[in-house]
Amino acid sequence: MDLKQYITIVEDWPKPGIKFKDITTLMDNGEAYKYATDQIVEYALEKKIDLVVGPEARGFIIGCPVAYSLGVGFAPVRKEGKLPRETVKVNYGLEYGKDVLTIHKDAIKPGQRVLITDDLLATGGTIDATIQLVEELGGVVAGIAFLIELTYLDGRKKIDNYDILTLMQY
Ligand code: PRP
Repeated sequence: MDLKQYITIVEDWPKPGIKFKDITTLMDNGEAYKYATDQIVEYALEKKIDLVVGPEARGFIIGCPVAYSLGVGFAPVRKEGKLPRETVKVNYGLEYGKDVLTIHKDAIKPGQRVLITDDLLATGGTIDATIQLVEELGGVVAGIAFLIELTYLDGRKKIDNYDILTLMQY
């Protein structure tokens, strides 16, 4: 299936000059959403995943159906102030802006094989921060899966020690 036909390119959003890749037109098509999810599930099965971790908000959209399908748990990575119990945190730089990401301290057991999911690899800042959180808790990053990779931003460079799956490249 050619997944790109389900992505809508929105010109000049959220800022002039940015061609935003809108994944909602993929998600609201049941066949396409299932196909994309199944590709990541297949990859996760090879990597013998114990837990899926994804950053808010679009990392949840990709990671939760994968975790459900694998029958493993999902641990959310959230912006500061959103998780109610003790967290570890990391600063990160976004394609446009800066922020802090957090995860519950007890979300990962040391040695667990983690799949990290997100919709988009842009500069790699979000995923790099998510990797730091997983590793701080003793998790093993066994794979990282994205729907989309913006190859011209070279985000892969930041995470090239890891096994990466991207379903679409621009
Ligand atoms: C977007 C996207 C990725 C990240 C990619 O999330 O969903 O998580 O940016 O950019 P990067 O590779 O340069 O870090 P955003 O922070 O906009 O949050 P959202 O999913 O809650 O909209």
